[in-house]
Amino acid sequence: MLPRAGTTTHEKLFDLIQSRTGLILDANRRKDVAALFATMLASGDITRPDDLVSFLSAQSAIHPFWQRLIHVVTIGETYFFRNSPQFMALRTQVLPALIEKRRQSGSKQLRLWSAGCATGEEPYSLAILLRELLPDIETWNISILGTDINEAYLQEARAGLYRARSFRNETPADVRENWFTAVEGGYQLDATVRQMVVFRSLNLTADDFPSFESNTMHVDVILCRNVTIYFDRDTTRQIAARFRQALNEDGWLVVGHSEPQADLYEGLTAENFENTVFYRKRTATLPRQETRMTRPIVTEFTAPIKRPENHRPAPILDKRKMPTSETTATEDYWARAKAAADHEQWDEARTWLDKAKGQGRFEPQVYYLHGLVELNAGNTEQGFRLLRRAVYCDSNFALAHYLLGDLYHHQGARKEAARHWQFALNAVEHNDSQQVLPYSDDLTVEMLVELLAARLSGL
Ligand SMILES: C[S@@+](CC[C@H](N)C(=O)[O-])C[C@H]1O[C@@H](n2cnc3c(N)ncnc32)[C@H](O)[C@@H]1O
Repeated sequence: MLPRAGTTTHEKLFDLIQSRTGLILDANRRKDVAALFATMLASGDITRPDDLVSFLSAQSAIHPFWQRLIHVVTIGETYFFRNSPQFMALRTQVLPALIEKRRQSGSKQLRLWSAGCATGEEPYSLAILLRELLPDIETWNISILGTDINEAYLQEARAGLYRARSFRNETPADVRENWFTAVEGGYQLDATVRQMVVFRSLNLTADDFPSFESNTMHVDVILCRNVTIYFDRDTTRQIAARFRQALNEDGWLVVGHSEPQADLYEGLTAENFENTVFYRKRTATLPRQETRMTRPIVTEFTAPIKRPENHRPAPILDKRKMPTSETTATEDYWARAKAAADHEQWDEARTWLDKAKGQGRFEPQVYYLHGLVELNAGNTEQGFRLLRRAVYCDSNFALAHYLLGDLYHHQGARKEAARHWQFALNAVEHNDSQQVLPYSDDLTVEMLVELLAARLSGL
């Protein structure tokens, strides 16, 4: 028998949807959910309403049943260059300042994240903006990540085919003309822009970010606009705290105009621009250092690293910081693999890593990077295996332990997760807090300790 609207089964279902997605359902959404639930019961193998609710609660958000529900409860309203005061602030102040800083530091790298990107108009607007701002864009290492909980939206985003409704009055007039080709069925976005954005499924209310595997660390600018308006305050506060962890020092969080409750963005400072407010990460305890920039790991092997005068190398790093002639080939292959991985060229990265392994030395950083490549390519099991091998080669490899902790935690193995996070803490506890960890892009010991402490205290 199917439950009537308003029965306890329905209440359980609505609660489950809210706890899983953060979304508070209004009366209309509840009606739509109830109708879909009835269809699922009528057409699926599970016919008892309570059983179906239990089944859903045991599945992750990527399960097809969940995706059908998510499609009903999410609202994907978006368009190119939505909210012109915010794009003006990005175009004329925030991005130019960031770009200049990076140029001066010699680290031409930028990381942007559109969280809750719907069908992709927002991250693609960022990509277009950067193409317009950077005449030498080909010499930059740029990562733009678009994430959403709704897989169907992400698929549309990847296709890059848009209808007229994606271009509104606020969209600069020449955007469609310069970056799109009219085709049957709409407007096809230029491949040079499409290839700049990587789309991934990510549930903002799940606790798996920031993390290496979701590529949500060391971000310069996060846009999360018109997403948390559907969440309650506590959920928004928790997500804001994670965004803070995901940001680089001095990084920016941009929220929608209907989300201006400054008290929710703890540890972030509101900064005014014309007709808009952005939030910025400022860590009171950390002195602002112009030199502590995101630095691609490849520079460690292709250019001398400038160290502060009083730099005290940490014991666990010594053997890897100064490659001997024997290790040079391995390090060179590793650097090439890292450069390929930074551009998401997984096959090329694997080729270089295989060459590195062919040197016959058991180098933990080779297994570590290979693990990251496989995780990013979606091969979780293999990634796991390679990371375990990395810590087998070097039991003090803090980053590998950290990542293993995240993976175990993701699988619900809390004890194993705690063990690896604790190993990571032990491995770095005597190190200089401002030291950048080897084989990370710019993660300092202090930042890692902060991330680990947050994870361990959340267990
Ligand atoms: C109104 S759209 C905003 C699109 C874009 N940010 C903008 O402002 O134009 C809201 C998006 O948030 C996504 N969303 C809702 N709950 C989410 C969650 N828990 N995790 C990730 N994305 C979520 C929805 O799927 C939808 O695509």
